[in-house]
Amino acid sequence: MASATPTASAEGTVALEYDGKSLSLPLIQGSEGEVGIDVAQLRNKTGMITFDPGFGNTGSCRSAITFIDGERGILRYRGYPIEDLAAKSTFLEVAWLLIHGELPAGPELERFRRETTYHSMVHEDFGRFFEGFPKDAHPMPVCAAAVGALATFYQQPETEQSIHDSVVRLIAKMPTIAAYSYKHSLGQPFMYPKNALDYCSNFLHMMFATPCEEFVADPILAKAVDLLLILHADHEQNCSTSTVRVVGSSRANLFASIAAGISALWGPLHGGANQQVIEMLDSIEAEGGDVRAFVDRAKDKKDNNRLMGFGHRVYKNYDPRAAILKNACADVLKAKGLASRQLEIAMKLEAIALSDDYFISHKLYPNVDFYSGIIYKALGIPVNMFTVMFTLGRLPGWIAQWIEMRGDPDTRIARPRQIYTGATARAYAPLEARGQ
Ligand code: CMC
Repeated sequence: MASATPTASAEGTVALEYDGKSLSLPLIQGSEGEVGIDVAQLRNKTGMITFDPGFGNTGSCRSAITFIDGERGILRYRGYPIEDLAAKSTFLEVAWLLIHGELPAGPELERFRRETTYHSMVHEDFGRFFEGFPKDAHPMPVCAAAVGALATFYQQPETEQSIHDSVVRLIAKMPTIAAYSYKHSLGQPFMYPKNALDYCSNFLHMMFATPCEEFVADPILAKAVDLLLILHADHEQNCSTSTVRVVGSSRANLFASIAAGISALWGPLHGGANQQVIEMLDSIEAEGGDVRAFVDRAKDKKDNNRLMGFGHRVYKNYDPRAAILKNACADVLKAKGLASRQLEIAMKLEAIALSDDYFISHKLYPNVDFYSGIIYKALGIPVNMFTVMFTLGRLPGWIAQWIEMRGDPDTRIARPRQIYTGATARAYAPLEARGQ
């Protein structure tokens, strides 16, 4: 078969040599210097396709939303370093930034705050939708189903205005849906949103208040939730975001696309890892707290245990979100006068792993999920709601990426190729001829 050797050239192309022929492939350069080979003509011209399971070498789009330099541990939304946004911004501001490209001016932010406040109630019929789920249902599939079901309440044809309305409704109603999914699992009455509260205090109110007594959200906890949502808000073409783009590329509406993203985020290798981290820390504790033994098991290829909250497809350095969260964890626990055995074990685990040859040579560092579970636990968020918190945070990123995808003239319906390895053509065997 063809031998295909790409070679770089100074003219902004690479030449692919195959079967004695040569194909010039254009290079594309991003604003931070990343270079891609444009293979759009490859199959037409050569009959060959690229093969890249997991898409580790494949750029699926041009995007101006989030920049990650995984080697140097850099994350920026629309050019702003995550450290600055975490220290100085709020989740609603960051949501606006991701979706619109610029930080909001005062009146824009005020309008956005009002819109996302006054759309936070869900239709009464929608409340009954939750009754159909078993009490022990995991809140992630409940949220995915509920967001998909929003499309049945808002069926306007797609226009700029209806997309704007869907964006506002999603950001406004997601905390309500998340809290309802939790209240349903407890068998407690749903708490209506309170318009006087800020976004995160309102969420804590809907989660933890009951009609029986007054509830005041702790501002330290509300601030910590806000920080977590900022850190989760976007992460370029990760599994769930790519899912949102792929589903949206078929012209499926925003609700349907985001519902698919929630399902993708649920997986234990993606957003589900924060729940797995706490379960891992608890099992280390239950087995006597031998951290080194657990690290050894995580290295053993015959053992299925991985060190959850460690490693990342893109970061080959400390995930900057984990660095922020590690400090935030300590601050929140101190402010609330809490001790966390899980934080102690996590820090021991991190110290051992980061001085271990296996983790050093594989460039495995703590990722965002390593410390987020501990902080959620300290905030009183139940473990099965951790990934729902990630969903709340990631929502504006999914929305921004969906809108960018829809406006990109290069967007075509996502439809990868395959290398077929099954049976070649054969004659149909009638039932009587197929043996026992
Ligand atoms: N513990 C032990 N070994 C690991 C780990 C880990 N957590 N992560 C990767 N490795 C090893 C893996 O066995 C492989 O080793 P080798 O090359 O010797 O066969 C090598 O490192 C590369 O791993 P990979 O699975 O090919 O890497 P990937 O880029 O496909 O996977 C990952 C990335 C995040 C799925 C993976 O690191 C992992 O499973 N981590 C644990 C789950 C986790 O924390 N997920 C949250 C990710 S961050 C939040 C988010 O974006 O959702």
